[in-house]
Amino acid sequence: MVTAALSPTIHLVEQPPMSHPHFHGPVQLRVEYLQNPLGMDEPRPRFSYRLVGVPSQRARRIQVREAGGALAWDSGWIEDALSQQIEYDGDALRPFTRYEWRVQVKDGAGRIGAWSEEEAWFETGFLGTPWADSAWTAGTPGPSASFPPQIFRRRFTLPRRKVRAARLYATALGVYQVELNDQVVGDDVLAPGWTDYFHRVQYQAYDVTALLKPGENSLYLTLAAGWHHGRNTQIWTVGTAYRHDAMFRCELHLHFADGTRQVIGSGPDFNRLEPACGPIRKSELYDGEAYEAWRTRKWYEAVAHFTPARATDADVAITWNSGAPVRRLQTRPPVAVARRPGGVWIVDFGQNLTGRERFTVHGPCRGATIVVRHGEMLNPDGSLYTANLRSADATTRYTCGDDAEETYEPVFAFYGFRYLEISGWPGRLRKRDIAAVVLSTDLPRTGLFQCSEPLLNRLFENTGWGLRSNFLDIPTDCPQRDERLGWTGDTQVFCNTATFCVHAPAFYTKWVTDLNLCQKDNGAYPAVSPCPEPSSAIHPPAAGWSDAGLVVPWNLYCKYGDRRILERHFDQMRAYLACVRGSNGGRLPVETAHYGDWLNLDAPTSKPLIATAYLAGMYQLLARIADAIGRHAEAGDARRHAAEVRDAFRKCFTDRDGLTEATQTAALLALHFDLLPARLVPKVVAALVHDIRDNRSLHLSTGFLGTPLLLPVLARHGHVDLAYDLLLQTTYPGWLYPVTQGATTMWERWNSFTLDGGFGDLHMNSFNHYAYGAVAEWFFETIAGISAPVDAYHHFTLAPQPGRRLEHAQAVFLSPYGPISSAWRRVKDRLQWDFSVPDNTTAAIVLPGTPDRPLPKGITSRNGTVTATPGDYSITLFPPEK
Ligand code: BGC
Repeated sequence: MVTAALSPTIHLVEQPPMSHPHFHGPVQLRVEYLQNPLGMDEPRPRFSYRLVGVPSQRARRIQVREAGGALAWDSGWIEDALSQQIEYDGDALRPFTRYEWRVQVKDGAGRIGAWSEEEAWFETGFLGTPWADSAWTAGTPGPSASFPPQIFRRRFTLPRRKVRAARLYATALGVYQVELNDQVVGDDVLAPGWTDYFHRVQYQAYDVTALLKPGENSLYLTLAAGWHHGRNTQIWTVGTAYRHDAMFRCELHLHFADGTRQVIGSGPDFNRLEPACGPIRKSELYDGEAYEAWRTRKWYEAVAHFTPARATDADVAITWNSGAPVRRLQTRPPVAVARRPGGVWIVDFGQNLTGRERFTVHGPCRGATIVVRHGEMLNPDGSLYTANLRSADATTRYTCGDDAEETYEPVFAFYGFRYLEISGWPGRLRKRDIAAVVLSTDLPRTGLFQCSEPLLNRLFENTGWGLRSNFLDIPTDCPQRDERLGWTGDTQVFCNTATFCVHAPAFYTKWVTDLNLCQKDNGAYPAVSPCPEPSSAIHPPAAGWSDAGLVVPWNLYCKYGDRRILERHFDQMRAYLACVRGSNGGRLPVETAHYGDWLNLDAPTSKPLIATAYLAGMYQLLARIADAIGRHAEAGDARRHAAEVRDAFRKCFTDRDGLTEATQTAALLALHFDLLPARLVPKVVAALVHDIRDNRSLHLSTGFLGTPLLLPVLARHGHVDLAYDLLLQTTYPGWLYPVTQGATTMWERWNSFTLDGGFGDLHMNSFNHYAYGAVAEWFFETIAGISAPVDAYHHFTLAPQPGRRLEHAQAVFLSPYGPISSAWRRVKDRLQWDFSVPDNTTAAIVLPGTPDRPLPKGITSRNGTVTATPGDYSITLFPPEK
């Protein structure tokens, strides 16, 4: 692999180490994208692995066995080269059962290799069987955003028999944390995450064997408002939030060594602390957490009562946790702590991020209250800038207890911040007293990029921080203000970049499931998902937003080979497009209400043009999706619709000389979706180039929908040098301008902050919004030339386009079949290109010049097609003449 020269400046998540350095054969064994999952309830799970030291696979064989028991599936030898998305086809899986699995391959010469060595198992949970031994259990009736988190307790005595294994299955309408014998269960936070609570909530499965003890045991569960009862349900809705009381459900399954089993389930045998006088006084996702440390367990157990909890019911399906957990990814020390007039402290972490603070107070100072406010920027006078948080209070209030040293981190809150303002701190605040805990959905990093331009490297890093900060169980727009919603447009434009940077199939599969559950009766996908508003009143089909319903599953199919997600949602995709096509009484152009080219600066494109272009583009995509899953008749229908809408687009938005609207975004949509007659293409390209280069002196004017298309469309139409020039210019508006202003994440607006105007529009001005980070897909696909394939990179294309502005650039992408790298460097008048092709794949090569000697072994050139087999290559080329 050509990674030696890569010295990535970010290490948000380390690559999982290669567990068997000398092993040749299948590694990285995954089930439903997860490593050894507990509570895996997919009846026909899909297996995947990749090969090391086996350049090609002729056949594969998988065996699945009940742990310590009978074989459940032996696939036998299957003659193909697939190593992804292999569907289980054995005996019906049984609930609460551990299965172990292994895989073996024959290489290209037919030699049988060793069985995989990696520990590989999955354990089923309920698998569709009812939660028979528990009831939903509620606290105070009535939903409320600000009820103090409630504490439930269950004490139990373990019989003398030895516990072989113990599993806790738990979920809540709210968010919860469980402690078993005073130890917090699991390392995930904000469980059970946010799903479409009108239909489903996910449960978590924990191995708690090691937390149990002989004799008396205690289980405490704290239940807070979370997303189910938070203020997030009151914005972008007409007030119809989720309707259930806050409640939880859990079952502790004890498996004894003698083969017997006992279940301790939630219900009236659980007791509730009455009144709710635990230490967490308030926890609201937008507003923050209030904690009074003197309210210790010992104290409240003495002064309050535990009364039987209320068993209740909820018509919500409990499903397995198919997504990825939110965890603490990093702890970062401050880069500066400064005292301000009035005795407040300003703490700077040097990085805008999502998470919360952890501090240690030296006391005792019972009753003293420390107030921590969170902000992304400072005002010119050095005070904390919070105007952009809108109504979000985003404040931690901590009241000290009696201990000489107290360490605290909020339990159910998260904030978007780089700076803290701390008042009430007893004594002097030192750097070592406080840290920022970075929270994010925990996904392994799969993409790195680095080049000769430091500002571009920082832009890539900012994209990564935008991603980490906005992947918090769902893909959000921003982490700081009173919003933090799963805006579909932001996801639609960003998911290709995201799936280069991190391994995100489980994360997005969960989100797509909820997006489909949230589909409105009229077929519209909502603008936010999960959508706390069931009616279509304020979420009509929104061009570029609702289309996430097609774009995201297609991306998962291309990147990870996931056909199932296309099959599962295909009919809903069709229903959505029928809804758009039928709007406006079926007349074209499409006239729906939507967000347009959101946040473009001064060049709005009309909504009918955008919606009509998207509808034509989405029918083209639907046709590809239908073909991919073998629904060819529907593919034909979709193509006819695409042609009809394209013709209407031409009729409504073109004339003899080009487009009737002169914006960059109009040209980009028309070119990207191939909507123009051939004779107009050069004219529209010329107009686009003229507007960027001459009218706007190398500046963009695009918003959320136009921006991601700029560089790909320019490169595709022969203007790769202009694309580089546009990318690399540093003045406002452009991608690098915020970087020159010290940005450490992606900003929501081109003018979130300008030297001339100061802070941008207060009402919507996030400094941590990932949408414009979509530009990074171009770094992988064009600068390094690692194309997006349609089969999980089993066969892919390498076609770097070096342009003339960079001296060197390199990207590594850990594809499902293995690491692909592409690195080029100018050496005098030549270009040196090093690349690697993983085992069991082939790459079509488009050379970025003329090789100065015959191509190395492993690369063949036939009828103008150059193909590389697995291996590491280094080629020196003469760059093309300009
Ligand atoms: C969000 C965006 C979103 C938009 C829809 C905003 O408030 O922050 O990112 O896509 O609304 O117009």
